[in-house]
Amino acid sequence: MTKTSIFILLGACALGVLLHKLHLRLQLSRARQRSLTGHARMGRRFARLVPFYEYGDAKFFRVDAAPDDVATARRAGFMRLAAAFTERNKKNVELTNAIIDGVSDLQFTARYRVPFQFSGFVRRHFKAGAFVQASSGVSISDLDGNRLYDLTGSYGVNVFGYGFYKDCIARGSERVRELGPVLGAYHPVTAYNVRRLLEISGLDEVSFHMSGTEAVMQAVRLARYHTRRSRLVRFCGAYHGWWGDVQPGVGNPLAARDTYTLKDMDDTSLRVLRSRRDIACVLVNPLQALHPNISAPGDSTLIDSGRSARFDRAAYSRWLGKLRAVCSERGIVLIFDEVFLGFRLGARGAQEYFGVRADMVTYGKTVAGGLPVGVLCGRHETMRRFREDRPADICFARGTFNAHPYVMGAMYEFLQRLDSDPVRALYEGLDVWDRRARALNERLSAAQLPLQVANLSTIWTICYTRPSRYNWMLQYYLRAAGLALSWVGTGRLIFSLNYTAEEFAEVADRFLSAARAMQQDRWWWAPPGLTDKSIRRGVLKEMIQARCSSPIGSMSSPRNK
Ligand SMILES: Cc1ncc(COP(=O)(O)O)c(C=O)c1O
Repeated sequence: MTKTSIFILLGACALGVLLHKLHLRLQLSRARQRSLTGHARMGRRFARLVPFYEYGDAKFFRVDAAPDDVATARRAGFMRLAAAFTERNKKNVELTNAIIDGVSDLQFTARYRVPFQFSGFVRRHFKAGAFVQASSGVSISDLDGNRLYDLTGSYGVNVFGYGFYKDCIARGSERVRELGPVLGAYHPVTAYNVRRLLEISGLDEVSFHMSGTEAVMQAVRLARYHTRRSRLVRFCGAYHGWWGDVQPGVGNPLAARDTYTLKDMDDTSLRVLRSRRDIACVLVNPLQALHPNISAPGDSTLIDSGRSARFDRAAYSRWLGKLRAVCSERGIVLIFDEVFLGFRLGARGAQEYFGVRADMVTYGKTVAGGLPVGVLCGRHETMRRFREDRPADICFARGTFNAHPYVMGAMYEFLQRLDSDPVRALYEGLDVWDRRARALNERLSAAQLPLQVANLSTIWTICYTRPSRYNWMLQYYLRAAGLALSWVGTGRLIFSLNYTAEEFAEVADRFLSAARAMQQDRWWWAPPGLTDKSIRRGVLKEMIQARCSSPIGSMSSPRNK
């Protein structure tokens, strides 16, 4: 072979490699959702550019150019609700105010209940408290003795009703009392928990952690260790806890360089999985089946009526089947993050519900009978933290409180009850939640209210059917009607399975009367021609104006407003 032909050959090889890399790059771009959520880095950059500005007293009620009579009706409604809140929450507000400056979490949630432009005005008038003192059946009581139907679901922990968990905690504590808080060694109840978790997951090994976030961290770490690849794939909008690598976009001060965020339920993502060699694992949060490619809905981002959700079990099952196939083909670890959904759909979790098996499964929230926990289950090959042939090459993971006796005690009680007749009856009756959602939607349509609910069993989200800037106000009408919502407002309502027909009927009645009151106060008035697009364009214009009038460094601080 001559020198020239060697050069030509080398050149051709280099070009081949370059073209292949380009092809992979293009494939990756095509598999990204066309939104800021899909483009994590761009999303973070955009978030940094958004300036603070807020609506003052006059503009607050007419950002949609409402005429005087509408603005007056809105103001009257707002002040009436605010006065009722203040009156009903006196003790609670007093105690909350006494600590809020020292509790960063409270400051954060108080600020992000509604879009930031409205937030200061709302906070000045709506004095809500952070304290509750009792739970009973499906209701909770706050510090002033107000009883509210609980639609918070305690972040998803409350699947079977608060009484169930009180019982698990009390009996579980009694079971481990002799040992107390001895750590490191296991209380014997742990043996039962291990056996049950392996049965439920259909997997070989288990590890215990303190939170869902930690269980996910460990799953990804092990997948990287065993595949010797670095990248993790998550799907656009999916929440997997607050650890940096699974939260590459807004909310994380660092770029998550080893994370690919791909389009959910889309074949372009399968192509990426099929052709890249650097992917260790794919993380799936099956709750995304309710709103694929969209982040968990919260009212702080409810600037228009663009929220959408629709659950299609068959389509999502097919998608998971395809993912399963490609992961098996490419040696990628498929992780189901069932921290949220785990025991809400059935005693064998999302794997059984969607008919697809994962290589690793994380559980959390409800599985320790109301106490804090994270659980990881996996096959032997993916769970082992050492290599027989390379003794120094280990994958380290420990945690002081892992398998805490009290947590194990309450988990034992939870797992024991999982196959009991009352729990089985609740699971068998799950279809009722679709019927309840349908019936409520029919009532909302008949009343000509611009709302519909979408649900994945007991997890509901409220969608708005006509463009409006004020949908977030609904959360205050619902609270005033005695319905407790979490800080994300109407984005996520979580019912416990023990709601009776009568209790649900009461919630539905209150829901309707709250929505009617909001309509009567004219929040859903809209000028002709208003669209979600025109709303978004208008808000963007405001941001640009605010940005131009307040260069960095001279912007007024939002603190204490
Ligand atoms: C699917 C999923 N994974 C992980 C987590 C994190 O769990 P934790 O809040 O216990 O850290 C959550 C919490 O909401 C979750 O919903």
